[in-house]
Amino acid sequence: MAEDLQISKGTKEEQYRDLIPQVKGLLEGEEDLVANLANVAGALKEQFGWFWIGFYLVKKEELVLGPFQGPVACTRIKKGRGVCGTSWAEARTLIVPDVEKFPGHIACSSLSRSEIVVPLFNSRKEVVGVLDADSELLDHYDETDKQFLEEICSLINFE
Ligand code: SME
Repeated sequence: MAEDLQISKGTKEEQYRDLIPQVKGLLEGEEDLVANLANVAGALKEQFGWFWIGFYLVKKEELVLGPFQGPVACTRIKKGRGVCGTSWAEARTLIVPDVEKFPGHIACSSLSRSEIVVPLFNSRKEVVGVLDADSELLDHYDETDKQFLEEICSLINFE
């Protein structure tokens, strides 16, 4: 496992391309899910400095807060509620350029202006959680983030 993350400068795509092998290194040989989610959240926070980045995991028909980096956040989200609950219900990535325009957005912090939520799948293609990244800037996430965050999520083993 890599001990230090090498922070990449360059375009967003270059940053993801440099980060992905390092994420693979962090996940290699470690089977504990909480440890792996914590390191993925840490790596993304270090590289991109987003306001909030973390995971929610499906537990008894709710999303429950998992490892994250950033300010304290809501602990439970119901299926179909907010961006996270909608991404879970629809099993697809949602890019929200302006959270105030997303009906039912759950404001864990009034500082969050845009977000992207990526569903997490197990080997049976069931949604077992979501990755949520929040920015203080409007319109911060795009198709490049979607592509690479989906790739990063696919590296995590959810059994
Ligand atoms: N905004 C999210 C809730 C989670 S927090 O932003 C960390 C939502 O609407 O689902």
